[in-house]
Amino acid sequence: MRRDILHPGAGKLKYEIREIVSFARSLEKWRIPIRWENIGDPVKKGEPVAPWIKDIVREKAAEDLSYAYSETEGALGTREFLAEQVNRRPVLEPGSPGTPPEALVEPAKVSGEDILFFNGLGDAVAKVFGFLRREARVLGPSPAYSTLSSAEAAHSGYEHLTYRLDPANNWMPDMEDVELKVRYNDAVAGILLINPDNPTGAVYPVEILRQFVRIAKTYDLFIICDETYANIVYGGEETAALSQVIGEAPGIALRSLSKEVPWPGARCGWAEVYNRHADPSFDAYVRSLLDAKRLEVCSTSLPQLCIPAIMADSRYPGHLARRAAMFARRAEEAYRALWGIPGITIVKPRGALYASAVFDSAALADLRGRSRTLPVKDPSLEDYIREKTRGVAPDKRFVYWLLASTGICVVPLSGFASELPGFRFTLLEHDDATRREIYTAIGEAVRQYLG
Ligand SMILES: Cc1ncc(COP(=O)(O)O)c(C=O)c1O
Repeated sequence: MRRDILHPGAGKLKYEIREIVSFARSLEKWRIPIRWENIGDPVKKGEPVAPWIKDIVREKAAEDLSYAYSETEGALGTREFLAEQVNRRPVLEPGSPGTPPEALVEPAKVSGEDILFFNGLGDAVAKVFGFLRREARVLGPSPAYSTLSSAEAAHSGYEHLTYRLDPANNWMPDMEDVELKVRYNDAVAGILLINPDNPTGAVYPVEILRQFVRIAKTYDLFIICDETYANIVYGGEETAALSQVIGEAPGIALRSLSKEVPWPGARCGWAEVYNRHADPSFDAYVRSLLDAKRLEVCSTSLPQLCIPAIMADSRYPGHLARRAAMFARRAEEAYRALWGIPGITIVKPRGALYASAVFDSAALADLRGRSRTLPVKDPSLEDYIREKTRGVAPDKRFVYWLLASTGICVVPLSGFASELPGFRFTLLEHDDATRREIYTAIGEAVRQYLG
């Protein structure tokens, strides 16, 4: 072509969670039944949708207006409902002992104007990063949910800038690393955090959130907080919404119906914008997100219209609590299956729907010149895996052998903008016996692989 038509960020669009699927499918000719532990879809993994939620959706689907476009920003009544929910979040006590009462931070107040709907957070993330000035960088976690890290990398055309989450410290962010990277790189205009986190299952204590806010204020940055899993916190962990700690700094929280209703097929998520008018550049940027959405007319109407009826229903708090308790039990099972195996570290998830395990790099090294493998029934499949694992990242090699040996499909941690070798699996298999069998098989495979 007379012009290079490729976007400079095109090579940065990686989504290992789904890319692994095509590899798993290539094993079909060996008739390996695949157990999908890669994707975070509770419904696909057998969780029934609560009948009362289905009733609400059915009722809404019977109304003609559910088939109409909604306002570009989202259905007004729903945005007002959500704004009221934000405004009801309580004031948090001051953090460290000795903090004077005047340091009490009032939660950010929003109106319906500050809520903006998208076709799922995938769409929100594409807009949030796609309409950011190319030179303005957002520092994000590593490991990171790849939609976020890829979108940031693609918008800039460079590798995603990251701060470290530390598996030896319950996957907490290394706040010194955050501050140094912000201080010495003035291209950083924003900080991204995911709380509760995908892929690590970490939940950040309020004090960590306050530190993020302090850094943002000190260096005049905005904060993006992905709160997809805000209502999936367990094991007595305490955290807060960004709105409760942000004070007067500019920020955006991202929320979604996908995991908590759960209704991932609704493609319905929203941004809560805080302190939009605190900075003219932030204000103009938020306006550009809305203008971008306007070109698409609006986001999916029906799920938006269901939100007030679902979330204000007296059964909703119980629904959330039951699910959180269910994931707490599964997190314990996942943890027990891998804990204590030499050569691998697992941190018990405290929130979200995943567990991540990290190999000691030394443990993954080849055995006296022979690469590590797992037993595979068919010699031609073994040849295929040997061929496919040549030159791939060490954790991906394990993932391929695991697939061929057990049919279990997990995601290599190297697919989550991470240099730590490991893998992520889900807490979603709804059949108790199958899930336990999967976790046991993963544990046995790790032992064998590293043995
Ligand atoms: C942290 C995080 N953010 C955003 C998303 C995207 O969610 P949605 O279904 O709303 O696009 C996911 C989905 O797994 C996620 O884990």
